[in-house]
Amino acid sequence: MPLSCLVRVSLLVGFTFCGAVGPVWAQRRAAAPAGSTGPAAATVAASSATSASARRPLAADDVAVEAVLRQLTLDEKIALVHGNSAFTNAGVPRLGLPEWVMSDGPHGVRPEQGRNWTPPTTPQNDAGTYLPPGSTLGATWNPTLGYAFGTVLGQEAAFRGKDVILGPGINIMRSPLNGRNFEYLSEDPLLVSRMVVGYVRGVQDQGVAACVKHYALNNQETNRFKVNVEVSERALREIYLPGFEAAVRQGGAYTLMSAYNKVRGHYASHSEYLLNQVLKREWGFQGVVISDWAAVHDTRAAALAGLDLEMGTDLDMLPNPNYSRFFFADSLRAQVRRGALPVALLDDKARRILRVMYRTHVPDKRQRPAGSYNTPAHQAVARQVAEEAVVLLKNERNFLPLTKARLKTVAVIGANAERLNALGGGSSQVRAKFEITPLQGLRDELGAGIAVRFAPGYAIACGQRADPALIAEAVAAAKAADVAVVVGGWTHGYDYKVWADNAYDAENADKPDLRLPFGQDELISAVLAANPRTVVVLVGGGPADVSAWAPSAPAIVQAWYGGQAGGAALAGVLLGRVNPSGKLPVTFPVHLADVPAQKLGEYGYGKARPDSMTVRYKDDIFVGYRYYDTYKVAPQFAFGHGLSYTTFGYTNLRVVPGPRTVSVSFTLTNTGRRAGAEVAQLYVQAPGGGPVPRAAQELKGFEKVSLPPGQARTVTLVLDRRAFEYYDEKGGWTLAPGTYGLRVGSSSRDIRLTGTVGR
Ligand code: BGC
Repeated sequence: MPLSCLVRVSLLVGFTFCGAVGPVWAQRRAAAPAGSTGPAAATVAASSATSASARRPLAADDVAVEAVLRQLTLDEKIALVHGNSAFTNAGVPRLGLPEWVMSDGPHGVRPEQGRNWTPPTTPQNDAGTYLPPGSTLGATWNPTLGYAFGTVLGQEAAFRGKDVILGPGINIMRSPLNGRNFEYLSEDPLLVSRMVVGYVRGVQDQGVAACVKHYALNNQETNRFKVNVEVSERALREIYLPGFEAAVRQGGAYTLMSAYNKVRGHYASHSEYLLNQVLKREWGFQGVVISDWAAVHDTRAAALAGLDLEMGTDLDMLPNPNYSRFFFADSLRAQVRRGALPVALLDDKARRILRVMYRTHVPDKRQRPAGSYNTPAHQAVARQVAEEAVVLLKNERNFLPLTKARLKTVAVIGANAERLNALGGGSSQVRAKFEITPLQGLRDELGAGIAVRFAPGYAIACGQRADPALIAEAVAAAKAADVAVVVGGWTHGYDYKVWADNAYDAENADKPDLRLPFGQDELISAVLAANPRTVVVLVGGGPADVSAWAPSAPAIVQAWYGGQAGGAALAGVLLGRVNPSGKLPVTFPVHLADVPAQKLGEYGYGKARPDSMTVRYKDDIFVGYRYYDTYKVAPQFAFGHGLSYTTFGYTNLRVVPGPRTVSVSFTLTNTGRRAGAEVAQLYVQAPGGGPVPRAAQELKGFEKVSLPPGQARTVTLVLDRRAFEYYDEKGGWTLAPGTYGLRVGSSSRDIRLTGTVGR
């Protein structure tokens, strides 16, 4: 077994020292533009309209909550603020308040885990809608779909009797190595903010609380329980916090999950600065801070810092969890009793929990909008997200879409073509009602008249290198076919054993590097040489180093993890039934060495000895395209990039400055022959010579617009003051006076219109 695999396995085993056996670990891990609203989004949104009353902000002085709080005994308050099973608190049975039920996760309601992580022995109806993960949603650049996505989750959570859904995951994709990037949305704070607001509202309009995670700076899985992040206040405010702020202030998130890692020397769950100061005081958050599972390490520190509910400490106690040993159980009770911690502190936590329980109808779930499961509308949303996310990275001489009439035999190559992903990746696992693989999707789309020959081409196993026999078989299939489709990329693991061995998009493990595993570079190069009519499809939560073969591939497609209908969506794009409209929410670098976290900063392990658990974000605000554009490093595929089967023209830029806002309008025209959707992007360029270094450009507005061929629409994007400001370490948000560039285009590197505005 190669060293990298051993290290990854030992990390996992290290966490199971408490006696948890493999399976336990496995269970654990195991207002938008009208033009962009597709039919599925519209259907689900309409069915949720009646419940939008749930979107009222939580009231600081809720009379009903105060009345309940006054009746609670000390023990009852304590029972509210810690877990009494893997995913519940105890509620207040005496007052008819049931347990508060939480569930992962971000892209579907997780299979039942049992009270103590022991799966139920009786059959459960827990095979639901497997939505595409966060990075796929991010690639749609469609906030309307964010709302539809949240609505599906909220309805399925309600159906399954869950009160809190542990999602969305919105950490910034700082490095493509992060094993959990597939759950997250983007490297850009504005894109994260726009998508998260819809998601949170969608969930919460169903009377279910969203839980935005992981607050904050949980940007790597290596040492996730111990790593200490050192970051400048400016980078924190400009890059890492805006998504959380939007989720709270605009989305009205009822709960947030504090991260495992430390920030500036304090565990995030013990961080007075992050929890009390920023979240609760500055942003006015009235909801509940829930710890990540087993992220609390000290009663007093967590209680005083603003943590409200301790969950998952049982993981440190398995196989014999004793919930009274949670920090917020006996220990907190004793400290309150002897006056070491004020009753008012406990009251505040209980009050916050009651607020959310009452607002989401936990005392009488019949008041909650009725849930639903696996409905055709849910399935349509899963499919629409997958379709709108597929990114056409390269398409030389219009190689795609393939024309069925010209095909007799198609070779489908690559183990990912038939791999199921729903149960992979860790706590975000979903038991899917069905999952259409790329191979199945292609078979369905091509129909009976076209022969599909499948060859796996590579094997998914730890340490697996190029397999000459598998490559020879794939080459023969490619040679004999009119067209070859290679489906490769990253993989999740499914369960304890294989998860440790081959997981590249997975919780608790980062990718060792960006080169595709299992000898895929050799395979793809050999197939391209055997049949130049080959399209390469990449599955996965983010970039890979494709430099070995990208120049010789006529077409490259990023398919992400497509959820239950991913294979159908992909086939629809390859055959032209769907016109691709996804855009990269994250830069694809040429090589890992180009990545700012790796080049300017630190990642995984800190470089300073002996405190190598401290990772310094010396890349500062230069995350993703902010780095590549400022430092003039060419990416493989730029942030915001994504081709279409039609073409779009940008004309008539008009900039109308107002006292508070700047309105930027332009005409977007579908200049090609097919209907399609374009994500028009607006970047702001700060004037040079200011008080702090600025990024060459920053995304400050976008809109996804669907247009029939030949039609045009005026797009107007409005910039507020914040769009021009930087965060001054001493003075807070600051506007540097000067002339700002306005850059409108189809990607961060395909700018079509430029203007200026003075501020
Ligand atoms: C993950 C969270 C998840 C929790 C409960 C943790 O290990 O980091 O994202 O919600 O487990 O399963």
